[in-house]
Amino acid sequence: MALFSISTTLIFFFFFSLSLSQDQPLLDPTEQKALYNVLNSLNPTIPWQTLFPDDLCLSAPHGVVCDYDQNQPHIVELNFGYVSDETPTPPCSSNATLNPTLFTSFSYLRKLFFYKCFNNTQNIINLSLPSFPSSLQELVFIQNPSIVSPLQPFLTNLTSLRRLVLIGNGFHGELPSQIGDFIDMEELTLSKNNLSGAVPVSLGKLKKLKILDLSQNEFKGCVPEHVGNLTSLLKLDLSYNGFSCKIPESFSNLKKMEFLDLSFNLYGNFGVPLFLGEIPGLKEVYLSGNLLSGKIPEIWKNLGAVEKIGFSKMGLVGKIPVSMGVYLKNLSYLGLDNNKLDGSVPKEFGLLEFANEINLENNNLSGRITFSTRVGQKLKLAGNVGLCLGNNNSSCSENGGSLGQLNPCKITDVVSDSEVLFNGASLMLFDPIKLVLVMLFVFMGF
Ligand SMILES: *[C@@H]1O[C@H](CO)[C@@H](O)[C@H](O)[C@H]1NC(C)=O
Ligand SMILES: *[C@@H]1O[C@H](CO)[C@@H](O)[C@H](O)[C@H]1NC(C)=O
Ligand SMILES: *[C@@H]1O[C@H](CO)[C@@H](O)[C@H](O)[C@H]1NC(C)=O
Ligand SMILES: *[C@@H]1O[C@H](CO)[C@@H](O)[C@H](O)[C@H]1NC(C)=O
Ligand SMILES: *[C@@H]1O[C@H](CO)[C@@H](O)[C@H](O)[C@H]1NC(C)=O
Ligand SMILES: *[C@@H]1O[C@H](CO)[C@@H](O)[C@H](O)[C@H]1NC(C)=O
Ligand SMILES: *[C@@H]1O[C@H](CO)[C@@H](O)[C@H](O)[C@H]1NC(C)=O
Ligand SMILES: *[C@@H]1O[C@H](CO)[C@@H](O)[C@H](O)[C@H]1NC(C)=O
Ligand SMILES: *[C@@H]1O[C@H](CO)[C@@H](O)[C@H](O)[C@H]1NC(C)=O
Ligand SMILES: *[C@@H]1O[C@H](CO)[C@@H](O)[C@H](O)[C@H]1NC(C)=O
Repeated sequence: MALFSISTTLIFFFFFSLSLSQDQPLLDPTEQKALYNVLNSLNPTIPWQTLFPDDLCLSAPHGVVCDYDQNQPHIVELNFGYVSDETPTPPCSSNATLNPTLFTSFSYLRKLFFYKCFNNTQNIINLSLPSFPSSLQELVFIQNPSIVSPLQPFLTNLTSLRRLVLIGNGFHGELPSQIGDFIDMEELTLSKNNLSGAVPVSLGKLKKLKILDLSQNEFKGCVPEHVGNLTSLLKLDLSYNGFSCKIPESFSNLKKMEFLDLSFNLYGNFGVPLFLGEIPGLKEVYLSGNLLSGKIPEIWKNLGAVEKIGFSKMGLVGKIPVSMGVYLKNLSYLGLDNNKLDGSVPKEFGLLEFANEINLENNNLSGRITFSTRVGQKLKLAGNVGLCLGNNNSSCSENGGSLGQLNPCKITDVVSDSEVLFNGASLMLFDPIKLVLVMLFVFMGF
C-alpha cells in the first residue's frame, strides 16, 4: 500500500512538474531553505543544493510533492528513505537525524513519510518536544528502529491526522488517551513497536476509524468495550499482544468488519465468541494461540464470505461442525490444528472449491478420509492417530504430501464408517473409478 501510494505520488509529481512553467510563482524561499535543511539532516553526504539549485517545486528530488494554494506553490508531501530503484526517494544516510523543528516552515504539509530512514541503532532518536506542522494529515514511519521514543510527542498538535502509520519502529510507552481527540482518524496502525499498557477507552471516539492495527506490541489488560463503538472499522488487528479478559461482546456492533485478528493474546476460557456469526462481511478471522477452549459453535450460516479462519492452538474440543463445510463456500484457509478435536472430518470439506490449505494436524480426529486429489493435496492431517486413508491407493494418496503418512483403512474401519462417508453425492465424487471417468469426460471436453 505504502509503496503503491509512493509511486502514484511520484507519477503525480512528474506530470505536475511538467505543467509548471517559468513564469508561474515560485516556492516561498523559507520552504525552499527548510527543504534543504531537512535533506541535509537526513543525508549530509549528498550535495542537495548543488544537485537541485532551482525552485524545488519545478525540480526537486523524487518524493517531494508540491501543490497550489491560491496560486502559490507549497510543499505538501515529503517522502524519504529508500523504497525501490523505481522510486528513488531521497535516501537517508546512516547518521540521519530527525529534527521536527526543521519541518515547522512547511505549513501546508499534508503527508510525511519515512521508510527505513532511521535504522542506525548507534544513533538513537529520542524526541522530547517535537512539533510537526499541524496541517499534517498523514504521518508514516515504516521500519525506523532507531526511533526510540514515546508516542505522545509525535502526536502533539496533529489533530488533523487521518492516517497514523508507525510500523516497525521503537515507539514505547502507552498509547496516550488524547488519541480520542483525533476525530478525523481513519487509519491507526502501530504494529511492531514496543507499546505497552492498556488501550485507552477514548479510542472508542474515533468514529471514522477504518483500520485499527495494534499488533505485535506489548499491550495488555482488557480491550475496552468502547472499541465496539468504532462502527466504521473494516480491519481490527490486535494480534501478538498480551490482551486478556473476555473478547468484548460489543464487537458484534462492528458490522462492516472484514478482517479480525486477535491471535496470540491471553484470552482465556470463554469459548469462540458467538458474535462472529453476526458480522456477515467477515472475510478473515484469526483467534489462534488463545486458550478459548470449548466447542466450535454453529455460527456459520451467514458467514459465506469467510475466506480464512485461524483457530489453531485454542484448546478446542468436540467435533468439527459439518455446517462449516456446508456454508463456508469461499473458504481457502482453515487452521484447526493443535486442538483436541475428535470425530470425523466433514466430507463437505472435500467440496470446497477454493480450498488452499486445510490444516487439521495434531488433533484426535478419526475415521476414513477419501477426498479428491485437488482437495487431498491441500489437507494436512498428520498427528491424528485415528485417521486412515479410505482406499489403499486412493486418488489422494498418489501425490504423497501430507496424507502419505496416514495408514490405509482396515476392513473394520471401512465398515464402521461407511455410512458416514459413502452416501449420495460423496460416493459419486470420491469413488476413484468414477473420478477417473469424470476426469476423462472433462479431458475429452464434455
Ligand atoms: C554523517 O556522516 C558523514 C559521512 O558519512 C559525515 O560527513 C557527517 O559529518 C556525519 N554527520 C554527523 C552529524 O555525524
Ligand atoms: C539501514 O538501511 C540501509 C539502507 O536501506 C541498509 O543498507 C542497512 O543495512 C540498514 N541497517 C540496518 C542495521 O538495518
Ligand atoms: C528520551 O527522552 C526522555 C525525556 O527527555 C527521557 O525521559 C528518556 O529517558 C529518553 N529515552 C532515551 C531512550 O533516551
Ligand atoms: C500547539 O499549538 C498551539 C496553538 O496552535 C501552539 O501554541 C503550541 O506551541 C503548539 N505546540 C507545539 C509543541 O508545537
Ligand atoms: C522492543 O521489543 C523488542 C522485541 O520485543 C526487544 O527486542 C527490544 O529490546 C525492545 N526495545 C526496547 C527499547 O524496549
Ligand atoms: C461506547 O461504548 C460504550 C460501551 O460499549 C457505551 O457504554 C457507550 O454508550 C458508547 N458511546 C457511544 C458514544 O456510542
Ligand atoms: C465468494 O467469492 C466470490 C468471488 O470472490 C464472490 O463473488 C462472492 O460474493 C463470495 N460469496 C460470498 C457469500 O460472499
Ligand atoms: C481420542 O478419541 C477417542 C475416541 O475416538 C477417545 O477414546 C480418546 O480418549 C481420545 N483421546 C484424547 C487424547 O482425547
Ligand atoms: C495396499 O494393500 C495391499 C494389501 O492389502 C498392501 O500389501 C499394500 O502395501 C498396500 N499399498 C499401500 C500403498 O498402502
Ligand atoms: C492400485 O495400485 C496398484 C499398484 O500400485 C495398481 O496396479 C492398481 O491398478 C491400483 N488400483 C486402483 C483402483 O487404482
